[in-house]
Amino acid sequence: MILVTGATGNVGGKVLSLLRAGGHKVRALTRDPGRAALPAGPDLEVVAADLGRPRTLPPALDGVQKVFLMSLGANKATHDAHLVAAAREAGVEHIVQLSTLGVEMAEDPKTNPLGHWHRIAEQALWDSGVPWTVLRPNGFMNMNLGWAASIKAEGVARGPLADVPEAIVDPRDIAETAARALTEEGHEGKVYELTGPEALTGRQQLAVLGSLLGRELRFETVPLAAHREMLLRHFSEETVNGVITTLEEAIEHGSELHGRLSPDVHRVLGRAPRSFTDWARDHLHFYRA
Ligand SMILES: NC(=O)c1ccc[n+]([C@@H]2O[C@H](COP(=O)([O-])OP(=O)(O)OC[C@H]3O[C@@H](n4cnc5c(N)ncnc54)[C@H](OP(=O)(O)O)[C@@H]3O)[C@@H](O)[C@H]2O)c1
Repeated sequence: MILVTGATGNVGGKVLSLLRAGGHKVRALTRDPGRAALPAGPDLEVVAADLGRPRTLPPALDGVQKVFLMSLGANKATHDAHLVAAAREAGVEHIVQLSTLGVEMAEDPKTNPLGHWHRIAEQALWDSGVPWTVLRPNGFMNMNLGWAASIKAEGVARGPLADVPEAIVDPRDIAETAARALTEEGHEGKVYELTGPEALTGRQQLAVLGSLLGRELRFETVPLAAHREMLLRHFSEETVNGVITTLEEAIEHGSELHGRLSPDVHRVLGRAPRSFTDWARDHLHFYRA
């Protein structure tokens, strides 16, 4: 039995589908099975649990051999630690953890809080003695869906990073890598850095969308203060402060790290990572007026 956290979300949802398609028995963890509306069946159990409430975790881990582990934002360190501790007690044999690129450099919580939360979460897993695989992805291509409404309405994308090249990655490649790590031999003790095949700036990503849509699109750079206000409508203040600090660093110093190309998707999947053009073509309906 494989437990999938984040099973109603972006990467976890894709991991769940891939494992089911591969004939594996899976258990989906969600805080609210009613809202999740995942169709339970012979290959799928749905369990109510909350990574922030450790007492809910032992029943979710009963009979589980492997875990896909993700958690969010400022909760990352504590929520992962809760799951890892419960998994060790339950005798889990392998945890595949979703982390983030650049953890090894995130020593200072003041300059890189996002990376630092992930660093503490990785350390908790390593210290647990449970066999592990760590996935460190670059920014996700689907973050661009935040542009969909303004592209549709005005032909404009707004964001804080117009000119920083980033080798963003397709979340489908992250999920495929996770599914391989959970079901094949040879991935224990490995850290995989997951990037796309090319580094593109925000303006270049927008040009790809414009060319596929056959529309002239314009990039408007948003000051960080305004971007912060927008993020606060969706995320906790602690998480938003972490994101803004990381963006300030990228704007000031550029981001060699996020522009770097990694061979790891190709190594694990035996094919090139999906490009932003591939991703955009498959999601173009979100951007059409
Ligand atoms: N976005 C990026 O560019 C980027 C880049 C690098 C790394 N990352 C990392 O990737 C992760 C985000 O992945 P994603 O896009 O797949 O996330 P997502 O779709 O936003 O995740 C939502 C999931 O989190 C679950 N969840 C939230 N709070 C929970 C709790 N207290 N207990 C149990 N489950 C909870 C939700 O489950 P229910 O609502 O069903 O309970 C839902 O399935 C983060 O750790 C982030 O740091 C992101």
